[in-house]
Amino acid sequence: MKKRVTKAIFPVAGKGTRFLPATKSIPKEIMTLVDRPLIQYAIDEARAAGIREFIFVTSRGKSALEDYFDHTPELENTLRKAGKEDLLETLKTTNMDSGAIAYIRQHKALGLGHAVWCARRLIGNEPFAVILPDDVIAAQTPCLQQMVEAHAETGGCMVAAMEVPKEKTSSYGVLDVKGEMGATVSINGMVEKPPADEAPSNLAVIGRYILTPDIMRNLSRIKTGSGGEIQLTDAIAAEIDEDREVFGYRFRGQRFDCGSKAGFLQATVAFGLAREDLGAEFEEYLQELMSMHRAAQ
Ligand code: UTP
Repeated sequence: MKKRVTKAIFPVAGKGTRFLPATKSIPKEIMTLVDRPLIQYAIDEARAAGIREFIFVTSRGKSALEDYFDHTPELENTLRKAGKEDLLETLKTTNMDSGAIAYIRQHKALGLGHAVWCARRLIGNEPFAVILPDDVIAAQTPCLQQMVEAHAETGGCMVAAMEVPKEKTSSYGVLDVKGEMGATVSINGMVEKPPADEAPSNLAVIGRYILTPDIMRNLSRIKTGSGGEIQLTDAIAAEIDEDREVFGYRFRGQRFDCGSKAGFLQATVAFGLAREDLGAEFEEYLQELMSMHRAAQ
């Protein structure tokens, strides 16, 4: 029987330079879409997929993330006394069971692959998920849940895949597709950031993965073999080289690249419009703004 995926790694040790100066003192993952930080969306998605153990790979200056998932007795007492039950309920979504969350430090930002490798001792011999919180995905069935269901059929490694315009392939890892099986595709390999005319497909890898523990062994090898950044895609490609199966999964949903300013703004607008309590007022404002903007041109 295939093992269930119950652990997820959240690599949050990057420098977030694209959001300087904000990220000088705030972790990128604490930046908010409406009223919830990026990390909350990632945790909610993981919970929906059946994840029970949450492993954060952090770095210096990220203690706000640890505090975010802690209890706040004073605040909770104040809210309780004021009868603010709805806010108390909201706060509960940030609480974790004791022992369900672990923090590992990546001492140097040596790349995503290295960040994942830092969590190797907590993974054991089971498949695990990796979630990049700056990729936020709006979906009816949360993306990782879709992947966990597909993975129960296929096993192996699985990466989330999304169609991108050909001229954008140079910003992504791109799949070399072997065969199509509905939403799942088997692959021959992955090419990192190919120019449009060399891209083997327009299926790009985005920040959700289900990986086998073999990946940690591959990452150890890459570590000793190369300097500079250690890429997760290289460790996944090594699986294919050793004839183990890797799949792409075309998820249903809309992905926002919240690691970039444009993507973050788009997500803010989309999530604002989707909110029952704010959507109508916000839409009216946006329409007004757009007509003023057009009139000024
Ligand atoms: P990014 O490529 O977005 O890099 O990392 P970054 O440092 O976060 O942001 P910029 O490019 O400087 O603006 C993708 C994911 O991998 C994690 C990041 O935290 C992010 O979730 N990461 C990256 C690490 O945990 N460690 C690393 O060494 C590099």
